[in-house]
Parts: sequence; C-alpha cells; structure tokens
Amino acid sequence: LENVSYAYEDGGTDVLADFSYDFTPGSCTAILGETGAGKTTLVRMILALIHPRKGRAVVYNNDGEAHELSALTRCNFVYVPQGNTLLSGTIRENLKLGRLSATDGEMHEALHKACADFVFDLPDGLGTFCSEDGGGLSEGQAQRIAIARALLREGSIMLLDEATSSLDPETEQRLLRNLLESSGKTIIFVTHRLAVVDYCDRVLKM
Ligand code: GTP
Ligand code: MG
Repeated sequence: LENVSYAYEDGGTDVLADFSYDFTPGSCTAILGETGAGKTTLVRMILALIHPRKGRAVVYNNDGEAHELSALTRCNFVYVPQGNTLLSGTIRENLKLGRLSATDGEMHEALHKACADFVFDLPDGLGTFCSEDGGGLSEGQAQRIAIARALLREGSIMLLDEATSSLDPETEQRLLRNLLESSGKTIIFVTHRLAVVDYCDRVLKM
C-alpha cells in the first residue's frame, strides 16, 4: 500500500490517511488497533472490495511486477471475515465451500490444523448439522471450522480478521503456530490480543 487514503463518504473523514505498508511475502503480520481504527477497512482494501481514493494498492507477482488490486487479484487471498460465517448445512458441506473436491482426509487435516479436533468427537462427526450463523456450535467452535475451511482454499495470502477472537489464548496461540508452520503463506492477522504478537514477524499498529 503506497500512500493510500480512504473515506467511506465523499468529503467524509479519512479512515486511512496517507497510509503506507509493505506486507512482505511469507511474513506474518499482526494488525492491532482499537475498535474503529480502520483494521477491517484495510482488509477490505486488500481484497479490493473498496479502492483507495488516493495512493496505490498493489500486489506483486513472482517476477516482481506490480498489479493494481482488483477483483482479478482477489483469487490470491484467503479471507476469514470478522463474525460468524458458517452456512446452514453439515460441517462437511461448510468445509467444501473452501474446496469442493476436498476428501474427508483433507478435511480432517485442515480441522486438526485449525485446532478443531472436537469435530471428531461429535456423534455425527463431519455430518454434524449446524444452522446458519453456526447455531448448535459455540462461537469458538464455529470460528475454528471457518479457519479450517479457509485452509482448504488455494491462495497464498491469508487474511484473518479477528477470526480467533472467541478462542482461549492457549488455543489461539496453538492455532497460530500451526498456521505458521504449515504453509509458507503470507499471513495478515487482525487481533485485539497482544499475546499473539510474539508469534508474528511484524506488528502493524493502526
Ligand atoms: P473493530 O472491528 O471494531 O475492531 O474496528 P476496525 O478497526 O475493524 O474498524 P473499521 O475499519 O470497521 O472502521 C473504521 C471506521 O470506518 C469507523 O469509524 C467506522 O464507523 C467506519 N466504517 C466502517 N465501515 C463503514 C461503512 O461501511 N460505511 C461507513 N460510512 N463507515 C464505515
Ligand atoms: Mg473490524
């Protein structure tokens, strides 16, 4: 991001003002900041759901060529949004939204990485039904299934927007360690929790 500014309304206050940051490949960056600081706005800009009013937002390919962020670059990102995003259906069906062709074995692996081993102890396992907004599961359980779903998806950059906010600190740290070990992916991790910072390469305070 090069000197980007963004206001939601014409003439409104800038949420991001002359903001620059380079997320380097393979790094894990924690984004901290109080509520309303603009963390989700930044995530939306990276996903090209909103566009800078000033400045430039780009992603580099392997040859170092910059491409303006757009709907076309979005396929490189795996996004776990803030709040619950499970759909009504079984856990298996929800995970298949990450990768339609995923086998039960691949789903098990993703669930394990996402610290969601509790699924294996449910009487119906992957066939367990959850209602829209994850009803039937605790918030922290639903979050971990959402992360497992993201792990099944292709894309070299993971964006997690308070995706672990309902987990206890120990589970959150274990999950983050699994994410870092697993992939070689670039990780952008929005969090309110300072403890997590120890596991990240870089900290961006907004
Ligand atoms: P938390 O998720 O609560 O920790 O906050 P955040 O850091 O993610 O803040 P966010 O980026 O969501 O919001 C930054 C500012 O932009 C706040 O003042 C919001 O009120 C404002 N904002 C966020 N979304 C919208 C929107 O869709 N429309 C308008 N007009 N303002 C918005
Ligand atoms: Mg937010």
